[in-house]
Amino acid sequence: MNDKPKVWLNNTIIDWQDARVPVLSHGLSRGSGIFEAFGTHVVGGDVATFRMDAHMKRMEQTLRLLEMEIAFSFDEIKQGVARMCEINGITRSLIKVIGYWGEEAVINLVLRSPLDIAIFTIPESPELGLDDDTPITACLSKWHKPDPGAVPVMAKACANYLPGYLVRKDANDRGFDLGLTLTCDGKVAEGSIESVFIVKGGVLKTPPLGNILASITRDSILTAARADGFAVEECPLEKADLFTADEMFSCHSGIKVIPISRFEDRRLPAPGPVTKNVSEMMKKIMAGNDDRFTDWFEKLYSL
Ligand SMILES: Cc1ncc(COP(=O)(O)O)c(C=O)c1O
Repeated sequence: MNDKPKVWLNNTIIDWQDARVPVLSHGLSRGSGIFEAFGTHVVGGDVATFRMDAHMKRMEQTLRLLEMEIAFSFDEIKQGVARMCEINGITRSLIKVIGYWGEEAVINLVLRSPLDIAIFTIPESPELGLDDDTPITACLSKWHKPDPGAVPVMAKACANYLPGYLVRKDANDRGFDLGLTLTCDGKVAEGSIESVFIVKGGVLKTPPLGNILASITRDSILTAARADGFAVEECPLEKADLFTADEMFSCHSGIKVIPISRFEDRRLPAPGPVTKNVSEMMKKIMAGNDDRFTDWFEKLYSL
């Protein structure tokens, strides 16, 4: 256990195994945690994060949506990420910044204290499967995306991953890698931990923001694809669009483009021609070889 990376907890450095919460903490017993997850990459001899500012902005948005506060500034959190990556000798990794009420709450639902903050730097491993863009299969989940009137689905809240768990389990039980959900009004939403794109008639399409997580990868693909002259539409998608798509892929911070080779009983080219171009575009950016987007990387330390 001692070779596990050190953890930043409320500006103190502790051992991985000491990063615990009481079972009756609000974070666990009420499921009130929030988090951000993003990658570190080796670019030109430096270890750098990808769009850490955008992730911090999304965390700020999550806190606003849930009317919660934290005791640290986003600059302090960013400095904590840089410090822990250097201390732990991190290269390619997944960073998880988690906010939670560690205090016990037996009856009390509404706590007024700021959230505790923990930063984990998790080195790449086969389990994480970072950058593994082997094609996968997908199905339409029997579960809907929660109604945004009941829970803010744009918040990156741990509780929003209980529905995500059900979606993924339903898909896996039916022999698929991932499930895609519809919103309560029947429009295409996203997967459990991923956004979805389809290609139809040469146009790259993805659902608009509102009922989905504001994925940083989705935004990066849209921005870069528009800059590269792809035909791109953020538009409501019907269930039928999934069944008639020419190509389909999912994306998240860990793997920028994951081709989908089968949706329900329909085989799809994986990667299809547009997906292949998007994938190559993102690989060039992630290698630090696209000058237009090098400011998406924030240097943490030199190797
Ligand atoms: C529901 C959901 N959609 C989309 C994504 C992709 O977001 P990002 O690109 O910021 O990793 C995630 C990531 O965890 C997610 O949980």
